[in-house]
Amino acid sequence: MPARPSECAKPLPAETSSEKPLLRALHGAVQKPPPFWLMRQAGRYLPEYRRLRERTGGFLELCYTPELAVEATLQPVRRFATDGAILFSDILVIADGLGVGLDFRENVGPCLEPVRSAGDVARLRREGLGERLRPVYEAVGGVAGELPPMVTLIGFAGAPWTVATYMVEGGTSRDFAAVKGWAINDPDGFGRLIDVLVEATAAHLIAQVRAGAEAVQLFDSWAGVVPAGAFRRWVIAPTRAVIDRLRAACPDVPVIGFARGAGTMLEAYTVETGIDAVGLDSGAEPAWAARALQPRAAVQGNLDPVYLLAGGEAMTAEAGAIVEAFRAGAHVFNLGHGVLPQTPPEHVAALAASVRGRRP
Ligand code: CP3
Repeated sequence: MPARPSECAKPLPAETSSEKPLLRALHGAVQKPPPFWLMRQAGRYLPEYRRLRERTGGFLELCYTPELAVEATLQPVRRFATDGAILFSDILVIADGLGVGLDFRENVGPCLEPVRSAGDVARLRREGLGERLRPVYEAVGGVAGELPPMVTLIGFAGAPWTVATYMVEGGTSRDFAAVKGWAINDPDGFGRLIDVLVEATAAHLIAQVRAGAEAVQLFDSWAGVVPAGAFRRWVIAPTRAVIDRLRAACPDVPVIGFARGAGTMLEAYTVETGIDAVGLDSGAEPAWAARALQPRAAVQGNLDPVYLLAGGEAMTAEAGAIVEAFRAGAHVFNLGHGVLPQTPPEHVAALAASVRGRRP
């Protein structure tokens, strides 16, 4: 495959970059076995991560200390030889950088000062965001310098809707009544928060690519709570706006879109956002996705994380069925959502072997 020069990408020898299996799949190449990585492949299920975490003050400090973020990024790559290295960071560093007090509390999750009015949006600190997030970009550069030659470095951000849910609700939510209520009662006012997030997210992705990220993923983890009639306005349009800005600066970097729970809107999401690859949650039937989506974009997914937790024959059979269903087109093997913290690392090793071992 031809090398794709980009003013943003760190200069890599053309043959190295073009041979990377994950990058090739994201550009549409059909490969057997498929390249693989796992969402949340770094984290608490790894004993080496728990040791690293014990040595630091907290999760955010880990994200903002480049040497430690580099180490956490590389841990699963060393252990399982994944084809992708996803930057160790979080989708909420954008909210933190915008000045919303963010705190990750043990057994609670993220806590933020809620943004619920035009005044709250006006107070967001848009100037100097890139400077405040500079440690994240230094971590990207650090990983790029230490990456095994065939591994692809994946940058990421939360999509505007999903980051907005955390900012408006002040954390994780059960019913999303505050954010959906705002979007329904005052769409123009809520739209201004989305506009701020579109600009910030695009700038954040561009900075990661300039620092060495070779592909990016947009996590829209809560796309599934948006009513179908509002899906284009709050999920597709902001995603498209982020991608347009990213492409204007970095035309060749592939974008993976993961709109979890999008259901029947996933086809429109794939076509109308212009993503290169579509991340599938475990509710998307592979036979359907192979027919409806794979001719339009590479597909990524979609083993349920509980199969990985369970391990054994059930896991390898299900993984095999997924590989089989997507064999005719471009496919990146992954989970349908992140690795669960209680997952035995040996199960991940067994999954990696079974995906690699299959040569249909
Ligand atoms: O995938 C990776 O290995 C890279 C790092 C990564 C993290 N978060 C590290 C993390 C990525 C890509 C994310 C994305 C993320 N963060 C999402 C989208 C994906 C998804 O899961 O839907 C979301 C919604 C978040 C927000 C977030 N971060 C929550 C709700 C929580 C608390 C719940 C939890 O799992 O603890 C986090 C914390 C978090 N992000 C941890 C890690 C390793 C755990 C922190 C710790 O205690 O060490």
